[in-house]
Amino acid sequence: MKILVTGGAGYIGSHTVIELVNAGHDVVIIDNLVNSSEKSVNRVEQIVGKSIPFFEVDIRDREKLNSVFAENKFDCCIHFAGLKAVGESVAKPWEYYDNNINGTLVLLDVMRKNGCKNIIFSSSATVYGTPAVIPITEECPKGQCTNPYGQTKSMLEQIMMDIQKADPQWNMVMLRYFNPIGAHKSGMIGESPNGIPNNLMPYITQVAVGKLKELGVFGNDYDTPDGTGVRDYIHVVDLADGHVKALKAIENNCGYAVYNLGTGQGYSVLDIVKAFEEANDMKVPYVIKPRRPGDIATCYSDPSKAEKELGWKAKYGIVDMCRDSWRWQKQNPNGFDS
Ligand code: NAD
Ligand code: UFG
Repeated sequence: MKILVTGGAGYIGSHTVIELVNAGHDVVIIDNLVNSSEKSVNRVEQIVGKSIPFFEVDIRDREKLNSVFAENKFDCCIHFAGLKAVGESVAKPWEYYDNNINGTLVLLDVMRKNGCKNIIFSSSATVYGTPAVIPITEECPKGQCTNPYGQTKSMLEQIMMDIQKADPQWNMVMLRYFNPIGAHKSGMIGESPNGIPNNLMPYITQVAVGKLKELGVFGNDYDTPDGTGVRDYIHVVDLADGHVKALKAIENNCGYAVYNLGTGQGYSVLDIVKAFEEANDMKVPYVIKPRRPGDIATCYSDPSKAEKELGWKAKYGIVDMCRDSWRWQKQNPNGFDS
């Protein structure tokens, strides 16, 4: 298939481009580089051994988007482009609604006017809010999101559901990611957060590389086996493969479909610290801190629907995730700037 990847210079997008090219697909990337570097596209090209068309385009820029569609006949769009920092979204809600919702509305309009009505969307486990059941199936009702970022994911799912209902020619796959970590085994691409990381694994790797003093563990009084928060960490390469497999749903004219992408296994914060220490033979100093507002105790998936319907299952375990995250950080202490 010929596939437009929005946000293809970013963390999950860059890994997905590799898996798409390896599976024989023809890829075009657009990204406005607001949270990424063109170097990641160059590195992806080195990894796959071929050049990949890249356009620096903001998805809200209808004219530029139209010109990309005029030059290419896309079968499908995999839509990663979006802002994703939870805390920042609380401080800048207008920017998040404009970028994520307005941006996606422009993209969908340009797509339909150019006869491309197939989309795979980066959704998130955050749409479940405080989950009604654990493990979380796709039937679990959506919950109350505590921040504008989460709201954009939940609202965009609803918007796409309504559009698909009104025009059944659309195929729309919502992939609800759990917690992506890890990096490509080459160590050439990975997550490169701006400033101090918000997420657990980049924080741990920056402590390990000596850029940060110690990890703060946000709360040890949750109702979990060791009191720290439990999440479903998934290797980014497995997540990337989930997008390749989701193309099957598009080919089968799925209409509107939702899939969890997780491993089904929950690990606590202290489990991750221990796994990282053992996998990489090093110590990660940490201190217990108060709970982080908005956090939930436990969140892990039932990923069986994706296995049954798409033939997708996560292959990598927590040791691979810890080793690969560390290899990327060690080889690139300053991300793509190093
Ligand atoms: P990322 O920031 O590394 O990638 C997003 C990319 O989109 C970046 O390269 C950024 O420059 C680009 N972008 C943002 N706004 C744009 C715009 N208006 N026009 C063009 N490009 C734009 O983030 P990621 O971790 O790779 O996440 C990819 C997608 O998956 C996002 O939609 C995110 O919300 C979603 N998601 C991520 C996680 C996670 O934990 N990483 C979890 C669930 C869902
Ligand atoms: N944590 C710490 N210390 C840190 C960072 C995190 O103890 O410095 C803890 C958190 O309290 C939580 C766990 O580590 O218990 C994971 O936290 P992350 O910030 O890495 O991930 P979240 O589960 O909070 O959120 C992530 C993404 C969201 C997404 C959600 C579900 O950041 O965008 O997964 O997919 F919505």
